[in-house]
This record gives sequence, structure tokens and C-alpha cells, in this order.
Amino acid sequence: MANAHLNVVILAAGQGKRMNSAIPKVLHTIANVSLLERVVNTALTLNPQKIIVICGHERNTIQSTLAHLPVQWVVQEAQLGTGHAALQAMPHLHNDSKTLVLFGDGPLISSDSLQAVIHSTTKNGMAILVSEFTDPRGLGRVVRDNNGLFLRIVEEKDASAEELHLNEIFTGILCAPTTQMAQWLQRLGNNNAQGEYYLTELPALALADGCAVTTVRLQHPQQAQGINDKKQLAQQERYFQSCQAEALLLRGLILRDPNRFDLRGTVQFGIDVVVDINVILEGKVQLGDRVQIGANTVIRNCIVGDDVIIKENCILEDSIIGNDCTVGPFARLRPETVLKEKAGIGNFVEVKKSTIGIASKVNHLTYIGDATIGKDVNIGAGTITCNYDGVNKHQTIIGDRAFIGSDTQLVAPVTVGEGATVGAGSTITKDVPANQLTFCRKQQIVVENWERPQREEEN
Ligand code: UD1
Ligand code: CA
Repeated sequence: MANAHLNVVILAAGQGKRMNSAIPKVLHTIANVSLLERVVNTALTLNPQKIIVICGHERNTIQSTLAHLPVQWVVQEAQLGTGHAALQAMPHLHNDSKTLVLFGDGPLISSDSLQAVIHSTTKNGMAILVSEFTDPRGLGRVVRDNNGLFLRIVEEKDASAEELHLNEIFTGILCAPTTQMAQWLQRLGNNNAQGEYYLTELPALALADGCAVTTVRLQHPQQAQGINDKKQLAQQERYFQSCQAEALLLRGLILRDPNRFDLRGTVQFGIDVVVDINVILEGKVQLGDRVQIGANTVIRNCIVGDDVIIKENCILEDSIIGNDCTVGPFARLRPETVLKEKAGIGNFVEVKKSTIGIASKVNHLTYIGDATIGKDVNIGAGTITCNYDGVNKHQTIIGDRAFIGSDTQLVAPVTVGEGATVGAGSTITKDVPANQLTFCRKQQIVVENWERPQREEEN
């Protein structure tokens, strides 16, 4: 059930000049998910009645990219500041609720931290999320009186030399009863260094109205780091990856080096799975028991069975790999590849939209595309399924126990019968009968008493 007393407003209208990018800031990604989508996903865990996203700069691109999100888009025509942005949401909100304001460029804030802010918001008081930063440059500072009571937030560009030394910063996240928030937002001025309507002036207005302002202290400052430039984007990617790696280690995954592992999606894994360095897992990856993944391998949307060994430098995508298979090194499995149990794919082998049967081997320098290969088949080095005639794709079918000699081209559509042997160097254009030797090869010619040409004398 939705929490009828909560609205969330996410500010995402700014250009993000400091990113130096043609891509709108909130569409940059951390682990393949955009900054804004991450904030929305976290907001959804709070089960609010409504999520409003304020957009402006490049709003069409943002809205079409994130059209699947269950949010209401509200436009801020001119970007006059964070306070002005939040104000745009107010006519769309229910008055008897609380409103939580989040920034679209702060993607890693946790649901727990937001819950703490919401719970500290009273009937007519505001809660703000603050944190201690060793390097507070660029951020709004929290100013307190001699007794440590909250007074106001000052933006860096408006701060005195003394205030610049304060390490307590405002994360940008605040929550207040909606009616009061709307009134305070209307009363904001823009008489400051940047000529903008600052959201950060709201707490001082609340205090002046006799409302309490509760400061909630964030325990993990890195969660609150906003992303304004590419350096911060890279830092937050690393932070996110290190949090994920730590959680996976604690769940039992063996990562040879958690600093050289990236997960851009989700992974399920069995017992004693070993992941060597520089492995990237993307999308939805499922790994069985005792799987070993060699260095520099990318696995995207795959199901991998028990006891599979994936050697170094492989790329596996949208494939299903049965128990006890071996893949690589330097193998590429493209979408819709199915390896049945004990199949072996060796070096410099590309497989696309094909099924390789039980215990069949494709060990060297081979292309298998649009093929169905039975069990116990041996495909020699340098075999090519010629699946494409320049217009259409055609199927190659190879029966159980067939043996394909090295350097064979199978011009599809073509079928090789069970137990057939195809001699090396053949170009097969017609179906091959079962249990026979078939080959197609020019005869070997020997020219006797032939002599190599001699180098001509220079004169
Ligand atoms: C802001 C805060 C600062 C805080 C910091 C935390 C203000 C004035 N300053 O600074 O106190 O410490 O975040 O990261 O709020 N936006 C709009 N419309 C606008 C302007 C901005 O929607 O007119 C959006 C941006 O797209 C962005 C968010 O608001 O997602 C924050 O704006 P940004 O310019 O990044 O603020 P900071 O300078 O980081
Ligand atoms: Ca920011």
C-alpha cells in the first residue's frame, strides 16, 4: 500500500555544466543505471503516494529515456535554482502530506537514510540530512550557534572565510509538511551570490516561523556525494562497486581482488565460485556451484551451470552454459548460444545462436552460427559454418558423433548425418550422409624435378 502521507520531489532540471558533456547529467550512469533512475528506485522503496521529477534542460531526452519510471514529470522552464525547482512541484501535491526533496544527482543515498529523515519530520517541523565531509568544497555548510543549535545553511559562494572552514555540510535532502513547504518556497528570494532561489534557505525560514529544524546525521558521507563532474562520477562508481564487492564477499563469493571486479546488474551464485581479476558481470548473471571465471572476462545475461570453467579473456552474452562445460581462453559466445553438459569451446572460437550438444568439442579458431550440433561431436580447427548468403541466414545441423575435419566450410543450409566424418579442407555444399567419410578436395599434385627460381645476378 502506498504511504498516503508521503510525496517525493526529485530535482533534475539543471544542465550539469561541470560534467562537460552533451548527455544530460542525470542520465549518466553508475553500474549501467542512470543517476536519476537510481534516485527514483530508492524513492520507490519508501512507497510514496507520488513521485514528481522536476525536469527542464534536455527534458525530452530524459523523459523518453526513462519513460518506464512510475513518476509524474513537472517542467521547470527556466532553471532559477533548487528552491524554484521544488516550487514547481507544489501545485501537484496533496496538502495533508509530508514532502521529501531529493536531488537527481545524488544517486547512492540509501533507503534507510531517507527513512530516518522522514521519521524526524514532525507535524510542523522540518528535517534535513547533514553529514561531515573532510573536503566540503562546493557544498552548502551547516551554520550552528555557540550551543550547537542549527541556524542556517550557507552556500559556498555566499560563505564567509570562517564559514568556509565548517565541515558539516547539507546533503540537499530535506523533508517537511507539504503546506508549510509550499509557503516557505514561495517566500524565497534570490538576493545571493548566484542570483538563484536556493532550497537551502528553507530551514532558516522554517526556524523564523518558529518551526523546529531537526538535523539528521548521515553515517556514511559517501552516500551523500552529489555528482557534478566526471571525477565525482568515477569516484561514486568505485564506491558503489566496492560496496557491492564487499557484500558479495560476505555472501561467500571468492573475488581474487574486490578492487578489480565490476557488477553492473545482479548476480546469483552457488558455493565456492571463484572470480579472477578484471571480470565484469552485466545484466542478470546466474552462476552455479564451483564455477571458475578467469581474468578479463565479461559475462552478460548468462546462466552458467555447476563446475563450469571459463578461462581468461572470454565474452559471454545471453547464453546458457550447462554443467561441466569449459569455455576459452579467448572465446566469444554471442546471444542464444546453448552449451549442453560437458561441451568444450576453445580459443578463438565464436558461437552465435547455436546449440552445442553434450560433450561436443569446438576447440580452435572456429565460427559456429545458426547451428545445432549433437552430442560427442568433434569440430576441427578452422571450421566455419557459412550461415549467411548476404541476404538470409541458414541453419547447419550436425548429428551425434560426427567428426568435422579441420578447415572445413559448411555452406548452410546443410545437414551432416550422425557418425559422419568430413575430411579436412572440405567445402561442404550438400548434405553429408551418416556414418560415411565425405570430403571434397583438389588432388595433391607433385611436380618432380622442379627447381626454385634463383635470385638474379645484379650487374
Ligand atoms: C546543492 C545545494 C548544496 C548542497 C549540494 C549537495 C543548493 C543551492 N545547493 O548544490 O547546499 O550541499 O547540492 O550535493 O541547493 N536543479 C534543478 N533546477 C535548478 C537548479 C538545480 O532542478 O534550477 C537540480 C539539478 O539538476 C541537480 C540538483 O537540483 O540535480 C542540485 O543542483 P546543483 O546545481 O547540482 O547543486 P549543487 O551546486 O551541487
Ligand atoms: Ca550537485
